[in-house]
Amino acid sequence: MSLTNRQLRLQSRPKGLLAPGDLELVESPVPELKDGQALAQVKYLSIDPTMRVWMAADSYLPAVAIGEVMRAGGFAEVVESHHPGYKKGDRVTGLTGLQEYVIIDSSAKHFLQKVPKIPFVSDTVFLGVLGMNGLTAFFGMEIAAPKKGETLVVSAAAGATGSIAGQIGKIHGCRVVGIAGTDEKCAWITKDLGFDAAINYKHPDWKEKLVAAAPNGVDIDFENVGGEIMQEVLSRMNLHGRVVVCGFISGYTKEAPNMVSLGTVIVKRLRIQGFLILDYAARFMEAATQLGQWKMFGKLKDRETIVEGLEKVPDAINMLFTGGNTGKLIVKL
Ligand SMILES: NC(=O)c1ccc[n+]([C@@H]2O[C@H](COP(=O)([O-])OP(=O)(O)OC[C@H]3O[C@@H](n4cnc5c(N)ncnc54)[C@H](OP(=O)(O)O)[C@@H]3O)[C@@H](O)[C@H]2O)c1
Repeated sequence: MSLTNRQLRLQSRPKGLLAPGDLELVESPVPELKDGQALAQVKYLSIDPTMRVWMAADSYLPAVAIGEVMRAGGFAEVVESHHPGYKKGDRVTGLTGLQEYVIIDSSAKHFLQKVPKIPFVSDTVFLGVLGMNGLTAFFGMEIAAPKKGETLVVSAAAGATGSIAGQIGKIHGCRVVGIAGTDEKCAWITKDLGFDAAINYKHPDWKEKLVAAAPNGVDIDFENVGGEIMQEVLSRMNLHGRVVVCGFISGYTKEAPNMVSLGTVIVKRLRIQGFLILDYAARFMEAATQLGQWKMFGKLKDRETIVEGLEKVPDAINMLFTGGNTGKLIVKL
């Protein structure tokens, strides 16, 4: 049976938010499988801020070329296989791309991981709390080396990564303060997730509220945003505090991101460390096992924002930069 693949290909490098036409929807027949290949149907796409980085320029991965299927994480199920390592029904996560079908082979380019079917657990957890975001929060918090009683501040705290990082801070006995962009998000992270305080950075008095929420200063900054928010948190850091630089989302859509002044790093003898989750691939299973246990015992709660349809992906990507998502943002195909 011949199948049609619908794909979103990069047509132009966005300026600011994505504009219509930056990603073009293209239909083409799925090619016949060769020996050593398997065909997987993509069920869910992971919508991540780094996609905007991949559209713009070379960074830790090469920029997506114009005309190429846009790189993206996803969850897929094998529908046909001529590959000894995959059989029909196998479920995988990895870089599926923004498309309905992906051909997988033995190359490492898709970073594929097989994932199990867990009763009563949705497949989408493998993109969020047990996927890249949970793993990022896990290893970022490992770098932070939290101690009981310390104060942790998390920015983009109601997002996929921040919401898990903050809960890991609570597991370690920290006082956890989240920064997020709506009162609803602030209510979710305090009432449901157990953060000690939440600051809506869109309120004019948010800086005073941050001071009040961290009366003993800040020992750990789990930084997802950068710019003015990072600057304000840095100004509250305690001696020998740790700054874990996970991301700078406030700059991804800007030509000239807001710079942060680092004078306080010397005065407060801070340790700043950036990290990339891809460097931790050898330890994913270890971390996912721990995250799974925490989730099973109710210590980690997660939420998803699900958008339906491949053609909605450009709007969904923009939601990350306008705060339209709470928890993990996923497009269901
Ligand atoms: N280092 C790594 O390996 C790695 C891996 C995964 C993710 N990350 C980084 O982690 C961060 C979070 O990613 P995620 O996938 O979990 O996304 P997310 O937090 O689920 O979504 C992004 C959120 O960022 C907030 N935001 C957007 N623009 C902002 C701005 N200008 N100022 C303040 N907040 C803003 C929005 O929430 P509000 O409503 O609160 O504004 C939005 O919902 C990103 O910086 C990402 O690049 C890094």
